[in-house]
Amino acid sequence: MSIILAIESSCDDTSAAVLHDDRILSNEIASQKVHEQYGGVVPELASRAHQQNIIPVVDAALRNASVEPGAVDAVAFTRGPGLLGSLMVGVSFAKGFAQALQVPLVEVNHLQAHVLSHFIRTGDDSAVPAFPFICLLVSGGHTQILLLRDYFDMEVLGQTIDDAAGEAIDKAAKIMDLGYPGGPVIDRLAREGRDDAFHFATPTVAGYDYSFSGVKTSFLYFLRDRLREDPQFIEHHQADLCASIQRCIVDFLLKKLERAMLDTGVRQVAIAGGVSANSRLREGLIQMGRRHKWDVFIPPFSFCTDNAAMVGIAGYFKYLKRDFADISLPPYAR
Ligand code: KG4
Ligand code: ZN
Repeated sequence: MSIILAIESSCDDTSAAVLHDDRILSNEIASQKVHEQYGGVVPELASRAHQQNIIPVVDAALRNASVEPGAVDAVAFTRGPGLLGSLMVGVSFAKGFAQALQVPLVEVNHLQAHVLSHFIRTGDDSAVPAFPFICLLVSGGHTQILLLRDYFDMEVLGQTIDDAAGEAIDKAAKIMDLGYPGGPVIDRLAREGRDDAFHFATPTVAGYDYSFSGVKTSFLYFLRDRLREDPQFIEHHQADLCASIQRCIVDFLLKKLERAMLDTGVRQVAIAGGVSANSRLREGLIQMGRRHKWDVFIPPFSFCTDNAAMVGIAGYFKYLKRDFADISLPPYAR
């Protein structure tokens, strides 16, 4: 049995979690409000906020888990990819903590952590995927279809050749002045809109790859033309616009995922990353799974967006292999 303290600070959320083997004991997240007024994450401000948050967040994670610092067996941390200044805070903290307690360090790749979040036991003993399975990883920075043969054996079957899906959704929200991050807002407003009100074409991309920069541009041009006739076009059609652009992006994601599933013959499918919180994507995947009789794995909301519990589970699997990190390891941005 082992107690893992996990740290995540790759973007704008400071998070710490405590795991007892693959069971979650606590998962604390301090989100940074400071970026909202800028419509995106400001790296310098993110590093500063991580610096302010890290100690209280770790303290809360340990207290809520009823774990004394001395009971920690290893410290797992996100090494990358992410914002360097942000990563530096978590990495330095993890090293200091591990050094002080003379316990091993485990480095974790943020993308692998998102995928491995499916293996966190939450208490209700819900099923976890068996290998092989296919996972659509969709976040603010990444969009990939992955074939998993083992915990750390992930083959990239396809990925975006330009923008990430979350980035496209966030940009559409920004154009409509809906604030940052736009994903949750579009998801909420879309519920009151008609998803067939407007049509935005998705590009033809080979294989299982995606492309989202054209979607964003055509959305922008479409609005520019409509705003000429009606300066209040966005306000008048807000819900329909959200529902239509969400449909365009999500259905494109699902279409390629379905293709990859059918071609490989794999029968278990998962989604992970911030965009996997999207209700159309979750619903669409459930229906797709029913149609094909696939087992579908959808993470709970708290494990979709950035969190340290997923870093903890990835760290736990590496801890079992005694795959420890050297104290001198620097973070990596990409
Ligand atoms: O995984 P994540 O927290 O951070 C990265 O590693 O990038 O993902 C953040 C992304 C943002 O683009 C955000 O708008 C999107 O996830 N997101 C959503 C929803 N909740 C978060 N997108 C669509 N629908 C949602 N409900
Ligand atoms: Zn993430």
